[in-house]
Amino acid sequence: MPETALPFLPYGRQSIDEADIAAVATALRSDYLTTGPAVPAFETAFAAAVGAEHAVVCNSGTAALHMALYGVDLQPGQVAIVPAVSFVATANAARYLGADVVFADVDPQTGLMTVDTLQDAVRACGNRRIGAVLPVHLNGWIAPLAEIDAVARAHGAAVIEDSCHALGGFYADADGQGVSIGAARHSAAACFSLHPVKTMTMGEGGILTTADPALAARARLLRSHGITREPDRFLQTDQAFDGDGAVNPWYYEMQVLGFNYRATDFACALGQSQLARLPQFIRRRRELAARYDRLLPSLAPLVRPLPSQAGQQPALHLYVVRIDFAAAGLSRAQVMRGLAGLGIGTQVHYLPIPRQPFYRDLLGEPHCPGADSYYQSCLSLPFFPDMADSDVDRVVIGLARILGLSPADESSSSPEGVTL
Ligand SMILES: Cc1ncc(COP(=O)(O)O)c(C=O)c1O
Repeated sequence: MPETALPFLPYGRQSIDEADIAAVATALRSDYLTTGPAVPAFETAFAAAVGAEHAVVCNSGTAALHMALYGVDLQPGQVAIVPAVSFVATANAARYLGADVVFADVDPQTGLMTVDTLQDAVRACGNRRIGAVLPVHLNGWIAPLAEIDAVARAHGAAVIEDSCHALGGFYADADGQGVSIGAARHSAAACFSLHPVKTMTMGEGGILTTADPALAARARLLRSHGITREPDRFLQTDQAFDGDGAVNPWYYEMQVLGFNYRATDFACALGQSQLARLPQFIRRRRELAARYDRLLPSLAPLVRPLPSQAGQQPALHLYVVRIDFAAAGLSRAQVMRGLAGLGIGTQVHYLPIPRQPFYRDLLGEPHCPGADSYYQSCLSLPFFPDMADSDVDRVVIGLARILGLSPADESSSSPEGVTL
C-alpha cells in the first residue's frame, strides 16, 4: 500500500463514540444547557473515580489552576514556584493573581521538578514569601509529591498539583498505600484539563479536586462571578430575607471578584460519558506504552524512552522519547518533517516557559540547564487510545528510517514490526 494512503497519525487525538454523542444530544435536548444537573452529576462521578473528596468542574485546566491558586490565597507579590518545563498555563495562572513566578529547573531525563530543583528555586526566592508550589506531572509521570509537599510546608506554601497530564495515575506513598492522582493527599488541590488531546475530554474543560471543603466552596464561588445563591452563605441578611424570614426569591450575592469559568451541561454530559470509558482509555494507553517500550530499544542509543519512575503506575498522556539529534546528523525539525512525510505527527512538549518571550521580558535570561537539555532532545510520538498496535510499529519503523537506522525502502508491513 502506498504510504500516502495510510491515515495521518497525529501525536494525540480524542476518542468519541456513539455513546458520547448520544449523551451530548440528550443534554442538548434537556431543559438546561448550563448550570443544570449534568454539572454536579459529573463532579460527583469524577470525584469518586479519582478518590477525591470534592471536584469542581470548570471550563479549562487553566481556569482550574487559577481558581486553585486564588483558593489558597496566593497574593500579589508572593512567589509561585513553577517547573521550567510545562505548558505556559501553569505559570500564567499565578501571574493572573499578580504573583511572581520563580522557575524551578527540572531533571533533564524526565522533565520533572525534583526536591533538589525545588530547593534551588526556594533559595533563589531569597526573603520573598512563597505562596504556592506547582509540581507538574509531566507526560503522566508523577513528581515526588510527598517530598515537595514537605519543602512547601516548611516555607508556609500551598502545593497545587498540575495534574493535567496525569489523570488515572497512581503512586505508592511512604506508607505503601497506592494514592490516586486527584486525591490531593499531598496538595491543597489537583487540577486537570479535559482538552481533546488529554486522557479524556469535555471539548474544553477542567476540574479541580481537593480534600478541603472550604477550598471547594471557594472555587464554586469563583467559578461563577463570585456569586452565591445559597441562603445559608448570605452575608447581608437584611437584604437577603423578607420580614417573615423567607429568602427573597430574586436575591443573590457577589462576595468576591470571581469569573465566568462555568462548564456547560453538554460538556459535562460528554465528560460523564467519557468517564465511563476512562478505564478502557487507560488500559489502551498502557498497552500502547508497553509496545513502544518493547520496540524502541532497537533504536538505542539514538532514541531513548523516558525512564520509568519507581513506585508509580502512571496513565501516560504523552509518549515522549529523547533523541540524540546531533548524533543522528539531523535537526529535530528535519526529523519531524521527515516523519510528517510518512504520515506521522509529532510534537515538542515544551519550550521551557522561561524561554517564552513574555517571561524572558519579565524575568531576563533564564538559567535552566536541566530544562534546556530535556527540551533539546524530547519528541512526543503518536499516542492516543484509538491507535492500533500496527500504528506503533509504523511509528517505530518510520523513526528508524528517518534516523537512518534502516534501509530507506523498509516496508512498514513486517508483522512484529521491527527487525531493524
Ligand atoms: C501541563 C498543563 N497545564 C495546564 C494546561 C491547561 O489546560 P487547558 O488547555 O484545559 O486550559 C495544559 C493543557 O494543555 C497542560 O498540558
